[in-house]
Amino acid sequence: MRIVVGVGGGIAAYKAAELVRALGQRGHDVQVVMTRAAQEFIQPLTFASLTGRKVITGLFSQNSSQDALASAVEHIAVAKENDLLVVAPATADLLAKFASGLADDFLSTLYLAFTGHVVLSPAMNTAMWEHPATQTNLETLRKRGCSIIDPEEGWLACGVTGAGRLPDPIRIADHVETLTRAKSDFSGEIVIVTAGPTQEALDPVRYISNRSSGKMGYAIAAAAARRGAHVILVSGPVQLPAPPRVQLISVKTALEMRNAVFHHLEEATIIIKSAAVADYYVANIPEQKRKKTATRLSLELDPTPDILAELGDKKGDRLLIGFAAETENLMEEARRKMHAKKCDMLVANLVNAHGLGFESDRNEVEILSRSGQTVHAGPADKNEIAERILDEVAMLRLNLRAVDATA
Ligand code: CTP
Repeated sequence: MRIVVGVGGGIAAYKAAELVRALGQRGHDVQVVMTRAAQEFIQPLTFASLTGRKVITGLFSQNSSQDALASAVEHIAVAKENDLLVVAPATADLLAKFASGLADDFLSTLYLAFTGHVVLSPAMNTAMWEHPATQTNLETLRKRGCSIIDPEEGWLACGVTGAGRLPDPIRIADHVETLTRAKSDFSGEIVIVTAGPTQEALDPVRYISNRSSGKMGYAIAAAAARRGAHVILVSGPVQLPAPPRVQLISVKTALEMRNAVFHHLEEATIIIKSAAVADYYVANIPEQKRKKTATRLSLELDPTPDILAELGDKKGDRLLIGFAAETENLMEEARRKMHAKKCDMLVANLVNAHGLGFESDRNEVEILSRSGQTVHAGPADKNEIAERILDEVAMLRLNLRAVDATA
């Protein structure tokens, strides 16, 4: 795979040399881009020797006007030629530039021109890491689909102990490997992913919904598309941009979600039902707004269609992956739902754990298979959890094919 490694100006810049070497040893073709500040910490020559290529150090060549013209459009060529952009160390300054779309040097300009996957490995002083400005920038970048490798806790060069240390370069290389390894293992598959909450109207201005953000489902859709699948993402109302190369179908209610899924069922080979579907709806929505009175209001709710259960009955030989969002008895409920709804696999998570699950960027899940096997994943970024879930789906599909072949 062709990878650009962007090196930011922090003490940890020296570790980027180890990372570049590790990526090269794993067979990747690496182009290094250094910021001006990074060159204060480590020489471009180190990276040139490791990659055998010229290191890009600025937007404009200092040599001749001919060179300057060529280098002025180089960021577009580098953006087109490479599949992955890894930035390590990603300083607070770089995160701020990327988040706000500033393009005043080669790396920030490349980030804007780059359409492939971006991995950011931040490293900085603990106070800078914890500052709301940095955390808000990270949140923005996560929402855009960047993978963030959280810094480690430990002794920092500024003399304090805390979060902010660049992880071991081998760990960063491993993370890159998970993103690149199985790049095409879903090619030929047509995957329906459902995501987000549903909204059930109470009257023309009010609705019942839940706290699902859709982040997990969107991460799965993006990862499946990256791994070669044609993805049909049936999404309830969320505040997320459509992932690249994904066919997005926006719905509001459980019934609309059901109809969209069944409309595409024939073509699908895998269905991943991560949506948090409302269990009840109001069958007769009044035409006008319900008016406030001084007395108690009772609402009559009817059950929505259980899309997953219906799919379990009609799925044929398609792979069906359900989800279970629980606040207690996680494994018991997960097993019950997997069997009752005839899923091949079920991803279960506790939604009341602090900093995980609903609305969060991180998750921790148990992935159950009908064979009885359970795999634990996380706590980790939802993009990483999405890759783990797809790894398990790919494995299950291989096992089922092997069984078919021997039958
Ligand atoms: N699901 C569905 N249609 C529904 C309700 C749930 O397709 N009307 C799916 C969800 O997308 C998820 C799985 O069923 O894949 C489990 O959803 P969950 O909300 O955890 O469980 P429920 O079956 O709704 O049961 P309960 O709310 O009682 O836990």
